[in-house]
Amino acid sequence: MNVLLVGGGGREHALAWALSASPLLTKLYCAPGNPGIAAVAELVALDVTDHAAVVDFCRKASIVLVVVGPEAPLVAGLVDDLDAAGIKAFGPTRFAAQLEGSKGFTKDLCRDFGIPTASYERFAAAEPAKAYVRAQGAPIVIKADGLAAGKGVVVAMTLDEALGAVDMMFSGDGPAIASGEDGASVVIEAFMSGEEASFFALSDGETALALATAQDHKRVGDGDTGPNTGGMGAYSPAPVMTPEMIERTMADIIRPTVAAMKAKGHPFKGVLYAGLMITSDGPKLIEYNCRFGDPEAQVLMPRLKDDLLTLLIGTVDGQLKTMSARWHDDVALTVVMAAKGYPDKPQKGTVIRGLEGLAALDQVELFHAGTALKDGELVANGGRVLNVTALGATVAEAQARAYAAVDRIDWPGGFCRRDIGWRAVARERGEPA
Ligand code: AMP
Ligand code: GLY
Repeated sequence: MNVLLVGGGGREHALAWALSASPLLTKLYCAPGNPGIAAVAELVALDVTDHAAVVDFCRKASIVLVVVGPEAPLVAGLVDDLDAAGIKAFGPTRFAAQLEGSKGFTKDLCRDFGIPTASYERFAAAEPAKAYVRAQGAPIVIKADGLAAGKGVVVAMTLDEALGAVDMMFSGDGPAIASGEDGASVVIEAFMSGEEASFFALSDGETALALATAQDHKRVGDGDTGPNTGGMGAYSPAPVMTPEMIERTMADIIRPTVAAMKAKGHPFKGVLYAGLMITSDGPKLIEYNCRFGDPEAQVLMPRLKDDLLTLLIGTVDGQLKTMSARWHDDVALTVVMAAKGYPDKPQKGTVIRGLEGLAALDQVELFHAGTALKDGELVANGGRVLNVTALGATVAEAQARAYAAVDRIDWPGGFCRRDIGWRAVARERGEPA
């Protein structure tokens, strides 16, 4: 069958890599893709915000399944428009994508259906929000509703910081606050302490199938310092997600969410990516994303034993009840190489060399994110540019293999964190993480 993958980052390269290995695949297209994806898919210059153009392309290219990588097209209703045109698409509808697109929607759903998360209130104006902050005290967490590219969350350790965050969010200088359906625009929630983990599950609207776990590194600098980013590296599995913790997450968080969305008349079909805090009371939901993680997909895909395309079609067709997903025991670890200046002002256009030898390395996979071809050379064309993924029997082994590959890359315009996996490596050594 012919498949169209929407997106062009490292996550989509990892998905394209896995899809291209499927015995069910005839031809893979990707819009817009990137030079790395071009090795396994035909790139299509489609404006994916023009849903009619996407539908038109799908008809012409006899596309049987569209796989949507990033959240923006989901929130914009691409899947609704493909559904209406009779074209199968993997990913939630616009309504169901509110699980990611609106923090207020998700918090209300958790409250209404008893899903464990931090207690919260929503506010539409600064003064009542500040009164609530004063009454609750610090630490406390202030979040803008809507997609704010990771910039809409302030974990305030002091009261002053919390009050400042409220003012910032309601001022014109704050992140673009996309307001929820009912206009409330800030969520204030209790601070949770614990270790964070990412959990992935497929949902066909009725049945949830657990996939795998991962841990991301959101800060730009070694030792988890500096500003937040989209993610500087990840590894899978997350050691904190023991089989018992996975079962609790499925029973307390994922299955109730799938049932809640069905009860609301908007079944969720696609991948649920739960950002979890593993507290002393067990797993609690920090947030949902309604797509694969980036860079988490770059560590999930190399560990997946089963056919990705079969699983995605099973999700769209409501067949997950009869399906399973098996994973290699090996650890996968990915190092994100970013353009100097990321996340504030990544420098574009610097030349990247030395990638030729990487393909021959055993247990190493290179995924492209923000790359482009210019005058026959590969150049940086975004913030996060390359992802070097390696497998190993331990986190330490995968880490050593990934950095050995990173060190072969000749890219003076780029940088990476040198400590991806530090927490898990410390654990393997028996040190406190
Ligand atoms: P979010 O965009 O909701 O995932 O929040 C971004 C980051 O803020 C999370 O990855 C956590 O590190 C932190 N965070 C969010 N909510 C809380 C909370 N209630 N307690 C502690 N940390 C939080
Ligand atoms: N790695 C964070 C995200 O995909 O949202």
